[in-house]
This record gives sequence, structure tokens and C-alpha cells, in this order.
Amino acid sequence: MTLILGIETSCDETAAAVVEDGRAVRSNIIASQHDLHKRYGGVVPEIAGRAHIEKITPVIDQALTTAGVTIQQISAVAVGNRPGLIGSLLIGVSAAKAITWSTDKPLIGVDHVHAHLYAAALDQPDWSAYPAIGLVVSGGHSNLYRVDSPLKTHRLGHTIDDAVGEAYDKAAVILDAGYPGGPMLDKLAQQGDPKQFKLPRSLLDADSLDFSYSGLKTALLYAVRGKPQGRRGQTTFERSAADLSDQDRQNFAAAFQHAAIDTLIIKLQRAIDRVKPASVIIGGGVSANSLLRSRSAELADKNSIPVHIPKMAYCMDNAAMIAGLAHHHFQANQFDDLDLPAIATTSL
Ligand code: KG4
Ligand code: ZN
Repeated sequence: MTLILGIETSCDETAAAVVEDGRAVRSNIIASQHDLHKRYGGVVPEIAGRAHIEKITPVIDQALTTAGVTIQQISAVAVGNRPGLIGSLLIGVSAAKAITWSTDKPLIGVDHVHAHLYAAALDQPDWSAYPAIGLVVSGGHSNLYRVDSPLKTHRLGHTIDDAVGEAYDKAAVILDAGYPGGPMLDKLAQQGDPKQFKLPRSLLDADSLDFSYSGLKTALLYAVRGKPQGRRGQTTFERSAADLSDQDRQNFAAAFQHAAIDTLIIKLQRAIDRVKPASVIIGGGVSANSLLRSRSAELADKNSIPVHIPKMAYCMDNAAMIAGLAHHHFQANQFDDLDLPAIATTSL
């Protein structure tokens, strides 16, 4: 049996978890920093790094206590060391190194994006999926993969500009939907009629598996605020979201949501047709989206293959997915030394 302590600090959640044999989540503690970043309308890296320093030790303690294990009973310590905000990653990586150095336990560095692709396996003892088409949709990534095993992924497509979660966050600002943007926009969209306004779906070439979201974001901006005018180096608009009726704001949100999710489903279908996988795996913050979840069920029916989506608790950044994937590194004897780096840039 493996009992892995996972640590995740890549962005604005300080998280620690204990997972047994890569599947059974014994604890999953997440200290969210949303309240700290809310007034700025987005994550401020310096504030995130400092908050991680304050919270990392109590969060790890709580993960061990909730799981009912001592640090001596842990098989290895895993940490999401790439990609993410460098000042945030460093806190988790340093904590993991300190624990492994002082306890003589093995250290395992885990790719955060690949861990999102593993989140759907958590708490699912009978889960089998491979070969799969994988889709990671988060604040920083919109990546399509062929996934041959938890550790063997091959990227088929990625965003050429904004990630879908980032587009949601910006759309929420344009529509004054609140913070955090993605979930708030999703809520607003569910009250609207997507047919009242038309927004573009960027599909790129007929066989492309890449994504583009900046055109949709700009189309929404102009549709909501009217024509931009430059005056004394500042851009002003004809109107703002505050000038719209509640119904129009809901309808714009619904039009955005349908355009954003349609694109994901169309690309997933293209990838299924090309690879003929045994299943589809979806992960990342946007996998919590209500429309993506219902459209995924339709995709599963249409293609007669399972579509695995994480439980809501494992969609957003969490450490259980880090500990879960690390179980496979452990089984494959893939361990790291104390020189494990924190790496900001994206992985393949
Ligand atoms: O995976 P995640 O927690 O962090 C990253 O690795 O980036 O994803 C966060 C992203 C944010 O952009 C957030 O707005 C988006 O996921 N998100 C959603 C929903 N819940 C979170 N987007 C659309 N609908 C949602 N319900
Ligand atoms: Zn993430």
C-alpha cells in the first residue's frame, strides 16, 4: 500500500492531501485565497506567495490529522513543482523538501497539468480509461492529449492565445459578474437565453485541435460595451455592463458560455474521431462548468464511450490529484532529489 502526502501551491490555493494507492482520498485540505485577491479582480502573485507561507504548515498538519496518519506512516511526499506562479510554487517545493530531508522519505515532483488529467480517477476504485483523449481546461491551459497511461501523455493541441478559464475570468469582468469569474459567469449564464446574441466560435483549420479564445473575448467586449474610442492614451467605450438590463447580462453570459463550450466539444469530437480512444478524461477548473458537464454526458452517449469528469471537489486546484498521480511515479520508481526545481513555464 502507498500513502502519499501531496502538496499543491501553484497558484492561489494552499492545498495538502493524503491519498492511498493513488485512488482513495483520505484527506483533501484546500485553503483558498479568494478573499485576498477579490478586491484586485485577479490573482496578485506577491500576495499569493506570502499567503502560502502562512498557510502551508497548518494545511499539511490538517491533511495528516484528517487522514489519521503520522508523517512516519507516509510512503512519499509529492509536490506540484510545474507549471505555475514561481513565487507560489517555491513555497510548496520548499515545504516538501524540508519534510523529506528531515524524515528521509522519498520526494516526487509532479506536473500540475498532468495531475488535472488524473483527478477524475480519485475516489473511483473501478476506474479504467486508457488509451484516452484528455482535455485540461483551466485558468492557464486548454490542452488536448492522447493519454496512454497516467504517466504517458502526448499533447495533440493547445490554445494559441488565451486559455478557456482565462477567457471566462475576463468575460466575468466585462459582464460585471463577480469574483471568482468562472463560477459566477456560469451561474449568470444558466439564467440566460444563448440565442439572443450571437458570438463567434473559433475553430481554426478544419482539422485543427488547437484552441483560440481571444476573438470570443473581444467579440463579447465590443458587443457589451460598444465601440472603443481612444482619447488621451485611454480607451473608453460607449457603455458598460451597468447600462444593460439584468436579462441582457444573463443572455450575453449564456451566449458566451455556449460559444466557449461548443468549441471544446467540437474539438473533443475531432480528437475522438482521429484517435478512437477507450474514453475521454476531462480535468481542470473549467471541468466544474455546468454546460461542459451536461454536454460531456451527451458526447459520451453519442460516441458510446465513457467521459470521466472529476468530482466537483477535484476539478479546481487540489493536492489529492498531485498525490494520486504521484502513486504512479512511486510504482515506476521515479523519485526526485533535493535539487528538484520549481518551474514556471508550461509543460507538454
Ligand atoms: O484548475 P484551476 O483551479 O487553476 C488553474 O490551474 O488555472 O482552474 C481555474 C480556472 C479559472 O479560470 C476559473 O474561472 C475556471 O477555472 N472555472 C470555471 C468554473 N469554475 C472554475 N470556468 C467556467 N465555469 C465554471 N463553473
Ligand atoms: Zn490547475
